[in-house]
Amino acid sequence: MTLLNKTILLGVTGSIAAYKAAGLASALTQEGAMVNVIMTRSAGEFVRPLTFQALTQRPVVTDMFALDSQSRVQHITLGQTADLVVIAPASAHTIARLAWGLADDVLSCTVLSTTAPVLVAPAMESHMYANSATQENLGRLRSRGFVIIEPEYGRLASGAVGRGRLAGEGAIMAAIRQALGGVSDLTGRRVVVTAGGTQEPIDPVRYISNRSSGRMGYALAEAARDRGAEVVLISGPAAIAAPGGIKLVPVVTAMEMREAVMDEVPACDALIMAAAVADYRLETPASQKIKTMAPELTLKLVKNPDILGEVSGHARRPKVVVGFAAESQDLLKNAQTKLVARNLDLIVANDITASDSGFGAENNRVVLIGRDQEPSALPLMPKRQVADIIWDAVVGLLRL
Ligand SMILES: Cc1cc2nc3c(=O)[nH]c(=O)nc-3n(C[C@H](O)[C@H](O)[C@H](O)COP(=O)(O)O)c2cc1C
Repeated sequence: MTLLNKTILLGVTGSIAAYKAAGLASALTQEGAMVNVIMTRSAGEFVRPLTFQALTQRPVVTDMFALDSQSRVQHITLGQTADLVVIAPASAHTIARLAWGLADDVLSCTVLSTTAPVLVAPAMESHMYANSATQENLGRLRSRGFVIIEPEYGRLASGAVGRGRLAGEGAIMAAIRQALGGVSDLTGRRVVVTAGGTQEPIDPVRYISNRSSGRMGYALAEAARDRGAEVVLISGPAAIAAPGGIKLVPVVTAMEMREAVMDEVPACDALIMAAAVADYRLETPASQKIKTMAPELTLKLVKNPDILGEVSGHARRPKVVVGFAAESQDLLKNAQTKLVARNLDLIVANDITASDSGFGAENNRVVLIGRDQEPSALPLMPKRQVADIIWDAVVGLLRL
């Protein structure tokens, strides 16, 4: 679900978590949304409007009675032009005002005047949140169709531990996408995606690597995030920036990749290994830069561990394990052999000799091979679209 051309109204209220709204405003803007921020008077005690103005490149509304340079009645127009209203963080006070339909500031007037979906992400000290007044107010909002993005349990600003911490940015972004009509079939799932190529050092300045750009794995991570999953992206050095709203675990070598994957395996529902992990590494990388006087140089390579094989044999193997097979010949035969040998649920095979797809390209042409299934050859399409088709298959396997 893309946020391109969506108008999102972000309400920020007087909670200690107001600074986190800056991250949210930035993430929404980076995804192409037009973000209009309304701050309550109390919110201005925690974060300056300038922060949001700089992040969104839009004027920030703070005062109902300020003269509007465009001579338009902002508390009405902002609500009416919004595709969605999200209040994050929502203080106990604002929740009470909305529950009772008060209209004493720009944010509350806007909520009354909008017909867009309204998402409310409470953030407060745990006793304030548990208080029956707050709970009754939230109940009122729910019964009116507001979506409440539940706060998390954890350490609060007061030092105490309890429920009341603002939901994570990933959860808020997922709720936004869902409210805007996106698919959310990975909500509640934790998935791990590996991406990029690994670098195996020869000496402190040189390494052996491959042509992987990370694009396919990053598209997979982004698509899973958009479908509501909690995503861990374990990435070797890549040519592009990682998507926001996910946990990025950067690695360099195959051995680091293995350690990171094994750390995540016990706690994930699905693992997709899209990384191009080096098969070999130097037995002993030089500790000093190798001098280039000699006419020949012999490097001794040793086999890297078979990460997919280890995952498949793991006592807590994820329910769904997907591998990639980048082949330059006998595509189907080699991919099918890998599917069986590594005990995978699905393998994504691509012919790397094609110039319009594969390594580094924006598009990919792949064949999906499941167990006991006829291979399904997809036409050339953007990697993000390939990613969604792969997740469609994974969602089906998770339901079995
Ligand atoms: C340091 C500090 C932190 C606060 N944090 C919160 C909070 O996290 N959640 C909350 O509901 N109120 C919090 N408050 C109280 C609100 O700022 C106060 O209720 C205010 O009236 C909320 O106004 P608003 O809803 O119009 O923004 C805090 C107050 C202070 C001084």
